[in-house]
Amino acid sequence: MRNENRASAKLWGGGFDRETDAWMDDFHASIRFDRRLYRQDIQGSIAHATMLGEQGIISAADARAIVDGLRGILSDADAGRIAWRVDAEDIHMNIEALLTERIGEAGKRLHTGRSRNDQIALDTRMYVKDACGSSISRLKTLAETMLSIARRHTESIMPGYTHLQRAQPVTLAHHMMAYVEMVLRDMERFARARDAADVSPLGSGALAGTTYPLDRARVAELLGFSRISANSLDAVSDRDYVLDTMYACSVCMMHLSRLCEELALWSSLEFRFITISDAYATGSSMMPQKKNPDAAELIRGKTGRVYGGLLSLLVTMKGLPLAYNKDMQEDKEPLFDALDTLDNCARILERMLATAAFHTQRMARRASDGFTNATDAADYLAGKGMPFREAHEVVGGIVRACASRECGITDLTLDELREFSQLFDEDAYEALSMKSCVARRNLPGGPAAESVEAAMLEAVKRLAEFC
Ligand code: ARG
Repeated sequence: MRNENRASAKLWGGGFDRETDAWMDDFHASIRFDRRLYRQDIQGSIAHATMLGEQGIISAADARAIVDGLRGILSDADAGRIAWRVDAEDIHMNIEALLTERIGEAGKRLHTGRSRNDQIALDTRMYVKDACGSSISRLKTLAETMLSIARRHTESIMPGYTHLQRAQPVTLAHHMMAYVEMVLRDMERFARARDAADVSPLGSGALAGTTYPLDRARVAELLGFSRISANSLDAVSDRDYVLDTMYACSVCMMHLSRLCEELALWSSLEFRFITISDAYATGSSMMPQKKNPDAAELIRGKTGRVYGGLLSLLVTMKGLPLAYNKDMQEDKEPLFDALDTLDNCARILERMLATAAFHTQRMARRASDGFTNATDAADYLAGKGMPFREAHEVVGGIVRACASRECGITDLTLDELREFSQLFDEDAYEALSMKSCVARRNLPGGPAAESVEAAMLEAVKRLAEFC
């Protein structure tokens, strides 16, 4: 395509009197990563060309030739038949050059009334909308697996912790449902990011709109955007929707990471609450006995790089004058990486959970040998009229005594209990059983089976609202 009268072969090279340095070509080219946007770029161009034709800005014949040419490029790209060229710099110019190569003159009219600045904003917004949708469905699968574990374990008692010290008994269902709540919030966060991206910037031009009578609303409609941007300067320099998406990825990774931390702890010999399937564990090259929870550790580890991506874009954006600056090209790699990482991690975590064995008897034993019914003992005395603060102190004394004898509260005889308070009666044993400690916590949001069942019904309803 080299024009012999020009010193530069670039699509934008008309005013340049020499070629760019080869290192420079390689340095600023984005095709290596923005090729991922080929589908969005082509769909955006098809809508733009269609509108240009409808508005009489280009001829109907040219519009048709452009649309047909772009469709051909799309199917070749889908089939992996296109060799993207670094010297064509980015996805926009690769496709435009290819189009002109294939259809001739008409191809050169595609870019009428458009800039790569509004084009990249469009492509990225379309990509983000799709990707948020994929993240939502990936998370939905994860939440459903968590829910199915919860359904099987509404009666499986385990210790609940604060400060990683055994605190009060809960159930495995209640614990799982805590993560379902987190994942539901993550899904809502992705839905909000998708909504933030749902604004068509096309028609903003390089920064100051365009003199052509474009029909911005028509392009938005063709591409399924629900609204158009209100300010051309803002439209080409806004990356909030990328940040929103990366924030959604970051918070979600934080949730996955916390669960993975628990899975790693629970699979240790110290806890032995779960056995992670061999399919998601690995061995040691030196220590024959080792089975390591690598998948859980990697998910925890990868959380850091997703945060790093969010932070790097925040820092990139903070000093930029209006409107477009090339710095903003740095948004894509961390965005893609965050989305890919989250997708991989959520997929592996879902499989790891679905295939893990939960050792419910051991969990229940750990709950009952850690004084997790001490609050209930104080509540019992308070129920018989003793002020709670006093009851707390009395039970503190019982716990101290039991700890030195290495027994639990209900291992004491009634006479022994009465040495601490005359208010103890035979019914204390039933009240302080793990089962009733859990069953009596039946407020909405509590661990009692009936409360968890209500929460599960609600979660199923909320999950069904996502599509
Ligand atoms: N590759 C660029 C990016 O990702 C597209 C916009 C380039 N615009 C420009 N005037 N160089 O941001």
